[in-house]
Amino acid sequence: MSAPRVIKKIEFRGSFPTAPPETVQSEIAFVGRSNVGKSSAINKLLNRKKIARVSSTPGRTQAINIFEINDDYRFVDLPGYGFAKVPLAVRAQWGKMIEGYLVNRDILKLVVILVDGRHPAQNLDLHMLETLINNDIPGVIVATKVDNLRRNKKLRTLSVLRKGLGIPQDSFIPFSSTTGEGLTEVWDAIEYALGN
Ligand code: GTP
Ligand code: MG
Repeated sequence: MSAPRVIKKIEFRGSFPTAPPETVQSEIAFVGRSNVGKSSAINKLLNRKKIARVSSTPGRTQAINIFEINDDYRFVDLPGYGFAKVPLAVRAQWGKMIEGYLVNRDILKLVVILVDGRHPAQNLDLHMLETLINNDIPGVIVATKVDNLRRNKKLRTLSVLRKGLGIPQDSFIPFSSTTGEGLTEVWDAIEYALGN
């Protein structure tokens, strides 16, 4: 089989309130706070401008969105967590949707956890990491929007974030959907998880 980053076909399979049937072998899921850049990262990775819906209004992605690649594996765009303007009851429901998907998903090969590269570690991100560790789900951390970091502060800011999350350097990827920084490293992690 050719490398998965050779993308011959992408199909939007739909938006689901709960995890759809596992009709492929592998899924790669994208999680993170609302507005962190999940949908943008998916578009960049797939080299499509608008396959996943991007918005400057947090809370854009409100269901489990499935993209099937080469009829072989899926990217899963999950709702963002922690958006304060969404009523608590709805947030709780999204939380359940996200956790319900992550836990007991046999075909889930990797969770890409997106964190805002411009800020120190946040509690909800730590909580997500804990959930993944407790359930033995492999993950990689992607620090987004690093194009917004000034050159002289970049290393320091990212190092504070990484240490705050308590994760090693090799599972931490600085990334930008604007410049494409980190794209190769994220694809490497995905390919490794897919077993290629
Ligand atoms: P929800 O679906 O609401 O959870 O958001 P999301 O995590 O999918 O974020 P989305 O991709 O919709 O991006 C949110 C905003 O951040 C948009 O205005 C994007 O243009 C912007 N954005 C995303 N990635 C980057 C990046 O790497 N650099 C910069 N400068 N802006 C970005
Ligand atoms: Mg989104």
